[in-house]
Amino acid sequence: MSDFLDTAVIAATEAGRYLKARAGHKLTIEKKGDINLVTDVDRESEAIIRKIIAERYPQHRFKAEEGTEHGGNSLYIWFVDPLDGTTNYAHGFPFYCVSVSLVRENEIIAGCIYHPVLEECFTAERGAGALLNGKKISVSKEENLGDAFLATGFPYDIRESKATNLRQFAEFAVRARAIRRAGSAALDLAYVACGRFDGYWEMKLNPWDIAAGILLVEEAGGKVTDWTGGNYDISKGVVLASNGRIHGQMAEVLKASMV
Ligand code: IPD
Ligand code: CA
Ligand code: CA
Repeated sequence: MSDFLDTAVIAATEAGRYLKARAGHKLTIEKKGDINLVTDVDRESEAIIRKIIAERYPQHRFKAEEGTEHGGNSLYIWFVDPLDGTTNYAHGFPFYCVSVSLVRENEIIAGCIYHPVLEECFTAERGAGALLNGKKISVSKEENLGDAFLATGFPYDIRESKATNLRQFAEFAVRARAIRRAGSAALDLAYVACGRFDGYWEMKLNPWDIAAGILLVEEAGGKVTDWTGGNYDISKGVVLASNGRIHGQMAEVLKASMV
């Protein structure tokens, strides 16, 4: 394991243990929007991660969801979601994680997603495969959208925006075996990487939600694109990830939904 990935793992697991220790205890909950929550635990988790990464890589740029940023000229930037699945966490629904990723000149090179409740640590490095608790993982072999188990999510502006992903959800709901909206984009992607989900799509995401998970899917043998099958851009936040085998079928549905 490289020092980069080692740092990502240490940061994600330390923060994840903190999330688990605080779960079920009193939270301070604020609203960033009508349905977009942030808690004191999100912020403390971010501080834990920032400290670990800043000690090891003080020159690297850093951007985390709750506002911690470090700029500069470094080619490297860390994207961090200190708690992916905040709504779940606030309601005691035990599906949440920490996502830590490192990007060098627009290429995701290392990522770790840690789910503390199940003690599952997903890791990937560019060119070195994807692992779950140290064991190699691969995407599923499902060939047919009709038998596929999919994941997705909805944006926080669902009440006021026209682009809500509801139309796409309706299209896939009648074509796939089943869809889950489990509430953590990072875990949805990690679950595609290890074959639990066959495919995943979502929109209006941020680099900290998806960078680690995209690398996991790619390194596990899957495919990640935008909704049309073109190259993804983590700053655009539109993602289609799959085992590769059902990718064309999913892209057709998404393309048709956009006209
Ligand atoms: C959210 C979750 C959710 C996805 C949202 C994300 P947060 O992140 O990943 O599954 O549908 O779009 O913003 O707010 O829990 O870190
Ligand atoms: Ca998130
Ligand atoms: Ca978050």
